[in-house]
Amino acid sequence: MSKKVVLITGSSSGMGRATALYLANRGFKVYAGSREPDKLKEIESSNLMPIKLDITDIKGVQDALKDIEQIDILINNAGYGLVGSVEEVSEEQMLAQFNVNVFGVFRVCKVVIPKMRENGGIIINISSFLGKIGLPLLTFYNSSKYALEGITDSLRHELKPFNIRVHSILPGFFDTNFARDNLVTNELTFSIHSPYKKMVSTLAPTLIEQINSGNDKIEVAKLILEIIKDKNYKARVAVGQKAKKFIPMRQILSDEEFEDRVENSYNLNRL
Ligand SMILES: NC(=O)c1ccc[n+]([C@@H]2O[C@H](COP(=O)([O-])OP(=O)(O)OC[C@H]3O[C@@H](n4cnc5c(N)ncnc54)[C@H](OP(=O)(O)O)[C@@H]3O)[C@@H](O)[C@H]2O)c1
Repeated sequence: MSKKVVLITGSSSGMGRATALYLANRGFKVYAGSREPDKLKEIESSNLMPIKLDITDIKGVQDALKDIEQIDILINNAGYGLVGSVEEVSEEQMLAQFNVNVFGVFRVCKVVIPKMRENGGIIINISSFLGKIGLPLLTFYNSSKYALEGITDSLRHELKPFNIRVHSILPGFFDTNFARDNLVTNELTFSIHSPYKKMVSTLAPTLIEQINSGNDKIEVAKLILEIIKDKNYKARVAVGQKAKKFIPMRQILSDEEFEDRVENSYNLNRL
């Protein structure tokens, strides 16, 4: 049997890199997409091919994937977090957040689906437990992940006739480069003159600390392999301590009860 071909976006660090290595070591042929493929040089092998991929540019995505005839598994992983209040975030920052986390996923899907349609395949979206939870100053990030949840739900119907299954993984906090490199902060919100400065000082250090002391990214890689292997795997799965705490709560409680739990957990009621 020929090797299954995997494409992962945002592979230079964190969950993307861990998953690329994990799957390549288990016999998959992995195209590890990254804006900076040189960062993957030291783990390059016959099963792991770094490719330059910028998901914000449709022409770039088409060019990057034009010579890959068939893709069996797509992992939409690339993403970053914008931290700022709605009133202070700039137009440019707002558009950039959705351009990567939402429209980037659409662009890659547009190019990959035709390469999957004939033989079927699997699309796994790396969402977040914050795709089911509201938090202040993360409105743009969280709503981008809520949008990704909607993409999963709709694409599942759209692609079912072609034997392409779509899944969403909702990680809790994981120790990756996310807090170090990929949290973009709005200057106004983080200035001492911001009306949100108390919120920033309550929430930002907690979030950074929780991400940096989060679960091990290998758990996500292992989960991805489980999803690939099981053709009846459920649509949506929570992974990591925070996600396993909040996602089931969201399902049982009313919106208002759930909101109270989130406020208590993040000391938002003291603002
Ligand atoms: N860490 C967490 O606690 C956590 C929790 C829930 C969900 N997530 C989600 O998990 C996914 C992977 O994140 P990670 O935790 O592994 O963090 P990471 O180590 O920071 O990796 C994020 C990857 O996303 C890509 N990326 C970042 N900014 C980008 C931009 N402006 N344009 C295009 N690509 C960009 C980068 O890819 P290249 O530089 O290689 O192009 C990078 O390798 C993200 O979608 C994130 O939202 C993370």
